[in-house]
Amino acid sequence: MMGSCVAPVLIGLILLQIHEISECHKIEVTPDSGTVIFFSKKPAEGLDCSVCKDEGPSQTCNSNLELTEARPTIVTFNCSQPGNIFTVQINQKIECSTSGCSIIAVHPHSTRFLEFKRTFNWDLKVQSGKMFQLDFPAPGMRQIKLSESCPDKHTYTIITYQRAGPLSVGTFCRNGTISRIQVLYRGRVSLEVPKDTELNPSDFKVSQGSDTTALVVVDVKLPRGLSSFDFFTPNYDTGFYSEDKIKWNFAVEPMHNFTVLFPQYTPPECQKNKVLVDYTLGDKTSFTKAPTEIQPANKQGDFSLTLTNCEAKRAANVPGLSLNVNVEVTRGGTPVLCTADLRNEEGLSLQIENKNPESFCEMSLNSVVQEKIVVPAGTKADLSFLDCPVQDLQLTATKTIDCPSVSSRDVGTIPLSLAIPTLDPSLHVPLQQFTWLLRVLDQGTVDLTSPAGNLLQSLPVKDCNEKVSLLISETDGSNIGYFCSLAEGTIQKIQIKGNVSITVTPKTIKDLSQEKGPFLKVATSPEITENVIYTVSPLILGTMNLATPNWPKGMNPSSSVTWIVNVPQEHKAELQFIDVSKLTCESGHTEVTIGPLDSQGQTQSWREDQSFINTVVQQQQSFYLNMSNCEPKSDHFAVLSKITLQKETKKFLGIILAVVGVLLLLLIIALIVVCVIRKRKNKPTANRSSIYMPRGKPFLPGNATFPKSRADNESHVYASIDDPTMYGHLLDKNQPAEVDNGSWSNGHQVDAYRPFTGPADSIPPATDSSAEYPLDGRGGDREAFQSFLNPPNTFNLPRPRSPLVSQGSIGFEDRRMVHNELHTFKSVGDINPIRLSTDESKLKLEMESDSDSGPEPEYEEAM
Ligand SMILES: *[C@@H]1O[C@H](CO)[C@@H](O)[C@H](O)[C@H]1NC(C)=O
Ligand SMILES: *[C@@H]1O[C@H](CO)[C@@H](O)[C@H](O)[C@H]1NC(C)=O
Ligand SMILES: *[C@@H]1O[C@H](CO)[C@@H](O)[C@H](O)[C@H]1NC(C)=O
Ligand SMILES: *[C@@H]1O[C@H](CO)[C@@H](O)[C@H](O)[C@H]1NC(C)=O
Ligand SMILES: *[C@@H]1O[C@H](CO)[C@@H](O)[C@H](O)[C@H]1NC(C)=O
Repeated sequence: MMGSCVAPVLIGLILLQIHEISECHKIEVTPDSGTVIFFSKKPAEGLDCSVCKDEGPSQTCNSNLELTEARPTIVTFNCSQPGNIFTVQINQKIECSTSGCSIIAVHPHSTRFLEFKRTFNWDLKVQSGKMFQLDFPAPGMRQIKLSESCPDKHTYTIITYQRAGPLSVGTFCRNGTISRIQVLYRGRVSLEVPKDTELNPSDFKVSQGSDTTALVVVDVKLPRGLSSFDFFTPNYDTGFYSEDKIKWNFAVEPMHNFTVLFPQYTPPECQKNKVLVDYTLGDKTSFTKAPTEIQPANKQGDFSLTLTNCEAKRAANVPGLSLNVNVEVTRGGTPVLCTADLRNEEGLSLQIENKNPESFCEMSLNSVVQEKIVVPAGTKADLSFLDCPVQDLQLTATKTIDCPSVSSRDVGTIPLSLAIPTLDPSLHVPLQQFTWLLRVLDQGTVDLTSPAGNLLQSLPVKDCNEKVSLLISETDGSNIGYFCSLAEGTIQKIQIKGNVSITVTPKTIKDLSQEKGPFLKVATSPEITENVIYTVSPLILGTMNLATPNWPKGMNPSSSVTWIVNVPQEHKAELQFIDVSKLTCESGHTEVTIGPLDSQGQTQSWREDQSFINTVVQQQQSFYLNMSNCEPKSDHFAVLSKITLQKETKKFLGIILAVVGVLLLLLIIALIVVCVIRKRKNKPTANRSSIYMPRGKPFLPGNATFPKSRADNESHVYASIDDPTMYGHLLDKNQPAEVDNGSWSNGHQVDAYRPFTGPADSIPPATDSSAEYPLDGRGGDREAFQSFLNPPNTFNLPRPRSPLVSQGSIGFEDRRMVHNELHTFKSVGDINPIRLSTDESKLKLEMESDSDSGPEPEYEEAM
């Protein structure tokens, strides 16, 4: 059992060993089973050299040697270079039946007998009445004349054994159009490789083919494009005599026309019948021609050509039939010609690509066939399109504009309008993309504005819905975003440092040249520090979204973006971070900074390693929002934020009403006082002539209190509330306290919950603007930051941030007044009175139990 397993392995591995013995050449040969190895002397060569089998007394020497047994055999040559004198044949027999062949994939061994000329012979035999079939892997085989040779020196020959003797079907090289050859009944396939040539064979397949219809059937796949191929009849040099058929089946690519020519024809001497050429075309029409007639030309589709010999006279000086069949393939269609003249459109270049690899499109530029046509700027080109369906072609145009230098005097002059120029009307290809490359030279900035109205960034939350999409990118290839001009746009200006590319592609239309623009206006300005600056003015009664460049993908490493947000008078902006990606930095930090534009007043900033709260920042005046990225280690930095503009409700009316209210109150008090004085003249009176309200904390001289009303009940008035207090039950209680500290840029530790102990008045405490910065790091921790990405509703709702008392009540109006007063203290103090709605009384209970009422330095400062 063991032996039978090991033996084939050995046969496979140790096939050849060469030992040099002085003057002699000794090799050990183990033939594969079923293989015969035959050494034979070349004719008239080295008569004094012999090949010997075995060693010692049993050695036999001869001029040739046949090895049939699959066992190691010592073969000795008594000359040093037997390869010059001997050749090796390696013969295998392959028998096929309906159930298959003894060998299916024919693969000659590549390392054997390199110093000999080798001939591999496969003797094939199938059932009678059948043909043996050889399938050649792509790229197939090419037939050559005997006088020709193959470039890779691998020559294949096919022979069929006829009653009259062997007949050469043909000689072939690798790499051609023949995919299959079928030959009648019995034959031999040979592969000849000269000595010292590495074997690199095609592993063809053998099978039992169809019933006999001809002596030889050759299947040919004609390739695309212009080409011409030759095929030869058996025994082409001497001709063949038997009354047999040779059939070629040609597969012709669509959109191609074929033409058959017979460049060489030697007729036999027919004793019976005639030589005929039968054609069957793809549409099943068939016709017969004599070889001397004109053969089919400029036809389309697959076809077969069957050559039938007559019964020819066999005699020494009478040639047999030999025919060279030439098939020429050309493109069937007529090309469409046009011209692209870009000499008058500065910086404009065109590219045309065929997007359908299956199509038969053939494009040429100035009569040279090209895969992709590029017409460089400033040139004129003749284009030709053959069988190119317009929908397969993609025309893209690029216009390079050198923006005026920032230092040159034409800066700030009429901005350029980006509109698509009219292309040559003979160019019928629809324009699929137009790109402007705006180049700035001396480190300038490109300013983009809308030609009408403002720009809008197209985001999933608010899409542009335009016929075209407009992509603005930095020229390092990173996108900033998609934009459109829209009446309700909010972006007044986009400033981009360095070179910019702007790409227009159709969205709902087919051809961009229907939509010429102008799409944008371009100007240049001096260099900015950020990579991108947006100047935005949010819509009154609407929201706008701010997305970092390349959102939702990350910003470029170490890049920055700033939004300059113009808040109109009597409005406040509510800024909410609705989607912040989480990342870790390799070096540096991401930073989000908010600050007033007038550079007076407080800025707030957060880094990626600090908490980022999911609430709302309110700004009563124009401000900037600045975001800069670090060198990320993992993940990326992308922020989507939202600005909502709200009217500072009825401010003037409020003031008037407040004044009237106070006057009325004073009047009533005065009346009461007068009445009381009149009624009780002798009673002593408390001196309560003034009410001072420093920064919203009511202060009444003396010990007296005002009567309380429900709305003013101090049980829902808080001097300040910080987020952990309010949302502490939602947050991770185990979070170390340090995480919560110092996230404000000014590092203030403020806003600890402090139950309101002072006397209540009829004026609800004002909301200091700084108290409305809910991004305050103390309120969050890592968990809060994570939940920011997908904020739960409970996280958004409880925070009061808009006028808390029903509008129009005296209390509300007064709040505004107090607020105005507070505003002047804003940069100093951080007292943050917030009045909770009754809904939050539940929360209040929890907060009261957590009464960590620290000192109020900021309050004292404010005093
Ligand atoms: C090799 O052997 C043959 C027969 O044994 C002999 O005739 C021939 O001379 C030898 N050649 C050399 C080179 O020894
Ligand atoms: C096959 O032939 C074609 C043209 O005859 C040639 O361009 C190509 O390089 C050849 N390929 C190989 C693998 O020899
Ligand atoms: C290709 O063949 C078709 C059909 O036979 C014919 O109409 C067309 O003119 C031919 N094309 C050329 C270039 O001859
Ligand atoms: C813009 O592109 C031009 C040409 O490619 C280059 O010379 C120039 O340095 C680029 N400008 C910037 C700011 O990168
Ligand atoms: C925004 O941040 C960048 C990078 O830190 C800085 O260069 C730039 O001056 C900042 N802009 C504003 C308006 O703060």
